[in-house]
Amino acid sequence: MMVERGSSQGGHRRIWEIYRRANPRSEALFARAGQAIAGHVTHDIRHMKPFPVYVERARGTRKWTADGQELIDYWMGHGSLFLGHAHPLLLQAIHEQIERGTHYGACHELEARWAELIQRLVPSAERVRFTMSGTEATQLALRLARAHAGKPKILKLEGHFHGWHDYALAGVKPPYDVPMSSGIPGESLAQVILCPPNDLEAVGAMLAARQDVAALIIEPGGGSSGTIPTDPAYLRGLHDLTLRHGVVLIFDEVITGFRYSPGGVQQVVGVTPDMTTLAKIVAGGLPGGAVVGKAAILNRLAFGDDPAWNRKGRVAHAGTYNANPLSAVAGIAMLDFIADGEAHRRANQTAAALRQELAGVWRRLSVPGCVYGEASLLNYSLEPALATPPRPDTRDHRGLQVMANPDVYHALRCALILNGVDMCSLHGWVSAVHSEEDVARTVQAFEKAFLLLREDGFFS
Ligand SMILES: Cc1ncc(COP(=O)(O)O)c(C=O)c1O
Repeated sequence: MMVERGSSQGGHRRIWEIYRRANPRSEALFARAGQAIAGHVTHDIRHMKPFPVYVERARGTRKWTADGQELIDYWMGHGSLFLGHAHPLLLQAIHEQIERGTHYGACHELEARWAELIQRLVPSAERVRFTMSGTEATQLALRLARAHAGKPKILKLEGHFHGWHDYALAGVKPPYDVPMSSGIPGESLAQVILCPPNDLEAVGAMLAARQDVAALIIEPGGGSSGTIPTDPAYLRGLHDLTLRHGVVLIFDEVITGFRYSPGGVQQVVGVTPDMTTLAKIVAGGLPGGAVVGKAAILNRLAFGDDPAWNRKGRVAHAGTYNANPLSAVAGIAMLDFIADGEAHRRANQTAAALRQELAGVWRRLSVPGCVYGEASLLNYSLEPALATPPRPDTRDHRGLQVMANPDVYHALRCALILNGVDMCSLHGWVSAVHSEEDVARTVQAFEKAFLLLREDGFFS
């Protein structure tokens, strides 16, 4: 595996060289990591040309790179750090728990307290089961739905992301008939039926035509962290359709849970699904996830007195670190603190201001694409074909996830980092602790970044 060189893939742009000169320690760490870590990085989304920055510490809205640069962070632990890095409340809870033990290999009161809090906040949470990640949560939810419905197939929407297990990787990125990964058996992919998003008629026709669908899973805030926006009327329609056809409706609120409101999207739109998958904020930024939902479905995890049920009827679920006390205390501290919705009001307000200011930058500098998003999410595109924000009821979603020229997105990330901001390509997650000053500095960073990119021959 070669170390990627921006210049070999992105033409002779100055940006790669400027970025490289500014980040020599990160470049050396990247080269070193590549000798031990397969593919250099530990999550596909952290892949970046010519190499990602390495971070040494973080606090509040800021993180500091190995080359000593301070960055305003919009990754926020992939959306899990709703209260920013190293929030004092969470630090205290974690410090105290470390002294008391990090893994008891046993049940403990904290897991019950954590589950009760989730039950109180999330409308669909009659019962809770903890996992260690969002991927595990969606995998378990699909298994539970199949066991409950006694049917094999899953209806999934094009462009919606539910983690990286085999069933989740069908239809994530266009072209949707090609799974996001090689190595997935055709038999697994054949269990997943795809429908275009925001098209109730397509789902209605599919469910009327076949009797083998166990579940419909959706990101209720819109596919790929809101990149493909969605509409409350569509969610209500899906609720009615799945009810009518005896299909389990699963809201994947791994991103939106505890972010759109203390009870997630379902609380905002007043649609209660049969099951919900959670991760990220639920564990206060530590590893953790959960499946919540109707007792009648989740109780399939319960042992009974009947050996036949235990061996053949029950749904099996294990996981060494599920509900470990450290994640539990972080989750409890986080959920307790944000339960009154005040943090959401702040985060949403800051994100709205940021979206508005950045839309102004796009306009003033005639940057292709647009800025949009809901709640505390920021989505952006650099595609000339997407000059205005996509409508929430858009059925023409195929262009929304396209990065026609990925180099522009990599170059923008480099230019933003050079100007003190770190944001993922296509979206950023705003926390409840981002400030007006952060917004002002971020807007300046985007302006400077776009000017740098334009000088370098991008957008011409
Ligand atoms: C909507 C959604 N579902 C599931 C997942 C997978 O979660 P994890 O990365 O914790 O496995 C993600 C991750 O970003 C997600 O955005």
